[in-house]
Amino acid sequence: MTNLVSLLQAVAQTAQQMGPPRGGPGGPGRPPPGFGYTDALMELTRFVGSFLAIGAVGFRFGIVRRVRGMSDEARTILRADNAALLGILGVLLLALNTLGAPYLTSIADNKSFAEALPKNLNPFEFKLAMLALAFIGFALVRAAPSFGWILAAIGVLFTVLQPLYTGRNFANKVNAVHILAASTWLGTLLVLTLVGIRGLIRRHSSGGHRAGLVADLVNSFSPLALTASPIVAITGATTAWLHLKRLSALWTTSYGIALMVKLVLVLIVVVLGAWNWKRVRPSLGTEGTEQIIRRSATMELMFAALVLIATSALVTLPSPG
Ligand code: HEM
Repeated sequence: MTNLVSLLQAVAQTAQQMGPPRGGPGGPGRPPPGFGYTDALMELTRFVGSFLAIGAVGFRFGIVRRVRGMSDEARTILRADNAALLGILGVLLLALNTLGAPYLTSIADNKSFAEALPKNLNPFEFKLAMLALAFIGFALVRAAPSFGWILAAIGVLFTVLQPLYTGRNFANKVNAVHILAASTWLGTLLVLTLVGIRGLIRRHSSGGHRAGLVADLVNSFSPLALTASPIVAITGATTAWLHLKRLSALWTTSYGIALMVKLVLVLIVVVLGAWNWKRVRPSLGTEGTEQIIRRSATMELMFAALVLIATSALVTLPSPG
C-alpha cells in the first residue's frame, strides 16, 4: 500500500514539475488539480476487479477447455474452482467500486447516499444486477460447472461492456473495449499463473507430465494474448488521441506525462510478453521448465500491475482535450 501511494505521488509530482496541467498549476509538492488519491484507488479497484473476473472467465473458456487429453489428476487440479474464487473476488471489487463511488461522493458533497446516485438509476441498477448474476454464476461453478460459468461470463461481460450499450460517449465505449481486451490478455495470464501453473507445480505428482501440461496451458493462452494485445494497442491509441487532441499535450499536461509513464511500462510488459512467447514457450515441456515460465510470467504480471497503477492516476487526471 505504501508503495502504491508513493508511486501515485511520484506520477503526480513529476507531472507537476514538468508543466502546468490544463486546470492550472497546483501548489508546490501537491498533486495537480483534479487528481485525488481516493479516486485513483477506486479506479484501481475497478481495474483489478475486471482483471480477476474476466481473467477467470478467460481461463475457463480460453484455456482449460482447449487442453485435450488431461489425466484425472490434472483435471482435478484444473477443475477451475480456484479460478471461480478469483472471479468472485473480482466481482466483489467491481461491486465495491460501483457502490463506493457514490458513497464517496455523498461524503465529499455532504449529501445522502441516495442523492449521490446517478440521476438515471436504470444503468446503475442493471449493472448491480449483472454483478449479482456473475456472483451467482461463479458460486455455482462447483455444483453445476457449465451453467455456472455461462452465467458468470454473461454477468461479467455485461458489466464491463456497459458503456457500449448504454453510454453516448464514444471515448467511454472505446475504453470499455480497451479494458476488456487488456483483462482478456493480462487478467487471463494472472489466473493462468496463479491457478494453472502454480496449481500444477504444487499438486501434480509426475514431473514430466506436469511440464507437458504447463506447456499445453501456455500454448492455449498464446492465441488469446495474440488476439487481445493488438486490440489493446488500437483502442489505447484511439482513446489517447481522443483525450490528447494535440501531440504537444503529451509533454505539456499532467495527463500526457502520466500517459507517457504508462506507455513506458506498457512497453516493458510487451517486451516481457514477447520474450515469454518467442523464447520461453518453445522450450517448455521438459521437467523443470515450468518453474522458468512461472517466474517469467510473474515478472510480466508485476509490470502489468504497475501499468494499472499508472492508469489509475491517468484516468483521475483532467483530460487536456
Ligand atoms: C499492457 C497494456 C495496457 C493495459 C493493461 C491497459 C489498461 C488500461 C485500463 C484498465 C484503462 C482504464 C479503462 C477505463 O477507464 O475503463 C486504460 C485506459 C487508458 N489506456 Fe490503457 N492499457 C494498456 C495499453 C495502452 C496503450 C498501448 C495505450 C496507448 C497507446 C493506452 C492508453 C490508454 C488511455 C489514454 C487510457 C485512459 C482513457 C481515459 O482517460 O479515460 N493503454 N488502460
